Amino acid sequence: MMHQKLVVANWKMNGTSADIDVLLMAMQKDSAILNQVEVSLCVPAVFLSNMRAACAHLPISWGAQNVNDKVAGAFTGEISAQMLCDVGCRYVIVGHSERRLYYGEDSPWVAQKWLAARAAALTPILCVGESLEEREKGQTLAVVMAQLDAVLKITTAKDFAHTVVAYEPVWAIGTGLTPTTGEVVSVHTALRDHLVKQYDSATSQTVRLLYGGSVKGDNAAQLLTLANVDGGLIGGASLKYETFSPIYRALI
Ligand code: PGA
Repeated sequence: MMHQKLVVANWKMNGTSADIDVLLMAMQKDSAILNQVEVSLCVPAVFLSNMRAACAHLPISWGAQNVNDKVAGAFTGEISAQMLCDVGCRYVIVGHSERRLYYGEDSPWVAQKWLAARAAALTPILCVGESLEEREKGQTLAVVMAQLDAVLKITTAKDFAHTVVAYEPVWAIGTGLTPTTGEVVSVHTALRDHLVKQYDSATSQTVRLLYGGSVKGDNAAQLLTLANVDGGLIGGASLKYETFSPIYRALI
C-alpha cells in the first residue's frame, strides 16, 4: 500500500506563538503541496489551543510532544490525552529520546502513554532509536525492537493499525549526522517485517514509519523516499519556513 508521505515538525521547547503564525502564514502559499504531503506541527503544549484557529485555512494538522498516561486526576502540571483531543490534536509524540533520557521515561511507561493516546483516539507517534554506543556494539535492531515490543505486547493489531513509528537514532538527533541510506533501510525494513510477524502484512502496511534525525532540505529527498520510509520527523529544520518547506517539497 502506498501511503501519503507524512512530515511531522517537532518544535521541542522552542519558539513563540508569533513564530508559529509566521510559519503558517508562509505555508499558505504551499496549500496545493500540502494536499499531496501530509504535514503536522507538534508545537509546545501551551500553543496547542491556538492551532485550530491558526490552521483554519491550511490542510494541515497539529499534535503534542508528550502526554500523561492517566485519564485525569491529581497530577499537577500534566496534560491528558483527552485534553489534547479537546484542542484538536491529531497526533502525539510518545517516547522521544529526549523524554527517555532527561525525564526517565522507560519503555513500559512509554507504552502506557501510547495506550492512553490511542484510547482517546489520538494517533501516537512512537519514537524508537539506538544510542551511538548501542549502534557500535551492534545492538541497534535489538534496541529498537525492544522499544517497539513494549507497545506491541499491550495492544492489538486493530489498535496498532494506522499508527506511526519514528525511527530516530539518538546520535543523529540535532547533530548533523545521519545514518547511511543502507542503515536506514535496514532498520525500517526490520521494523516492517517485525510488524508482519507480530500481526499480519495488511496491518503492517497501515503503519507509517518515519525517519528522524538531522533531516534537512538537502537530504530529505534521499532519506525520506527510501523503501519502508513513509516520511520524517523533523526537529531543528522545522522551526522556520525556509528550512522546513524544502523538506516536504522534496516529497511530492
Ligand atoms: P533534529 O531532531 O531534526 O533536530 O535532528 C529530530 C527529532 O528530535 O525529532
